[in-house]
Amino acid sequence: MRVGGKTAIVTGARRGIGRAIALALAREGANVVVGDIGREDCQKVVDEIKGLGRRGLALKCDVSSTDDVEDMVRRTVAEFGRVDILVNNAGIISYKPFLELTDEDWDKTLNVNLKGQFLCARAAARDMVKNKWGRIINIASISSGGCGIAFPLIAHYTASKGGVVALTEALALELTPQGINVNAICPGAIDTDMAKGVKESGQLAQVLTRIPKGRLGQPEEIARLVVFLASEESDYMSGSAIVIDGGWLTT
Ligand SMILES: NC(=O)c1ccc[n+]([C@@H]2O[C@H](COP(=O)([O-])OP(=O)(O)OC[C@H]3O[C@@H](n4cnc5c(N)ncnc54)[C@H](O)[C@@H]3O)[C@@H](O)[C@H]2O)c1
Repeated sequence: MRVGGKTAIVTGARRGIGRAIALALAREGANVVVGDIGREDCQKVVDEIKGLGRRGLALKCDVSSTDDVEDMVRRTVAEFGRVDILVNNAGIISYKPFLELTDEDWDKTLNVNLKGQFLCARAAARDMVKNKWGRIINIASISSGGCGIAFPLIAHYTASKGGVVALTEALALELTPQGINVNAICPGAIDTDMAKGVKESGQLAQVLTRIPKGRLGQPEEIARLVVFLASEESDYMSGSAIVIDGGWLTT
């Protein structure tokens, strides 16, 4: 068991990459809090976690709400005694030409994708520092500027994910000396609801020509990297942004 006995919070875990992460952590021995905007779907994931012999807790949590986030951490500590692992996975995307982006488009995306990670990290780290041990894993994207590339129609998303990489480095600097490792994962195109837009627009074949692996990634492939970053095996890693994209960034 690579994370046996640990308590993990995974946001945006009712489906997609978050669900795969929650189940992978449970398979490796963690009890998992499944947070998302819809509690009913979270409960289904918790039922799967229980089927693996672990404990789980389904919580309705909008990561852009300070109250929801603080309540999620409070209830995690009440139920499991502590928070060891936080996976900041919740995220949204929408497509629009830059000149048509509204203030609302910008605020909504930045509030969920970037402010949400700040709020969750702050609330969880306040508990982790007490135990002098923690792992914060932020899901960014290859579409994040510095570490990756920019795509058209998602300036707001790209800015939010670039912010996630920058936040990861800043948190690693402050929190690593207190026993908390902070890393980011930058996925390429992963086969979830978020990638549906690409499939439905008929652009999948064209996208695949840019991915040396010739296929989309699977949520479980991101989850395996999360388990590594959550475990003792990665103890010397902090402040990194790891690309997992089937080779896309080489093209
Ligand atoms: N799928 C990809 O190709 C891809 C690529 C790079 C990065 N990512 C990132 O991976 C993460 C997971 O994405 P996914 O592909 O599984 O997409 P998804 O849309 O299937 O899952 C996103 C989850 O986040 C939840 N969510 C949305 N707003 C929320 C909020 N305010 N509070 C709490 N939860 C909220 C959704 O309900 C959903 O369960 C996201 O951060 C996304 O940006 C995905």
